[in-house]
Amino acid sequence: MARSPDAPRRWPVRRRVAAAGLLAALVLLGAAAAMLLADRGDRTPTGTAAVGGPFALTAADGRTVTDQELLGRPFLIFFGFTSCPDVCPTTLATVGAALEALTGHERIEALFVTLDPERDTPETAGQYAAAFHPGIIGLGGTRAQIDDAARAYRVYSARVPLEDSALGYTIDHSAFVYLMGADGTYRQHFSHAAAASEITQAVRAELER
Ligand code: NI
Repeated sequence: MARSPDAPRRWPVRRRVAAAGLLAALVLLGAAAAMLLADRGDRTPTGTAAVGGPFALTAADGRTVTDQELLGRPFLIFFGFTSCPDVCPTTLATVGAALEALTGHERIEALFVTLDPERDTPETAGQYAAAFHPGIIGLGGTRAQIDDAARAYRVYSARVPLEDSALGYTIDHSAFVYLMGADGTYRQHFSHAAAASEITQAVRAELER
């Protein structure tokens, strides 16, 4: 087939330009779609840590405690396990002291959630928590319920086998005490080394909001 020497060169160039334009448009469209999807996935307002969310756990008396029924009141929440050698007891003692320093009308819920449903029932979690302060409510549940709650609060935990111990295993876990607002959103967290007065002050400020 006879072609002028210019024709085959001109058309492919135009096509290439058109194809490049289409590709650029598709890339932009894809990026916009990705941004929209990313926005939809992250419902947390900018600047707020994504801590907290739905949970359903069981108290010592068998009743179900959910995030929904806590709405309207700020609360403290901490995850651990009753066989914990030091961090959990220390932290719960601090939370207990923080609650003790509040006056009668400054009431706040304080929750202790076990990360060890194999060994901790809601009853043992409840008894353990109450030993530090009667205001601390121990919660347990099924493995799935506890995993859901831990995920919502960005709690890390890992089972670590103990070779030479009757305990069999321990649980490595993050040990932050979270202060949640009356609307169920994250306010702030305290390390296990925080002073009780720090927690008391933050709770008081939250109750006065
Ligand atoms: Ni612990």
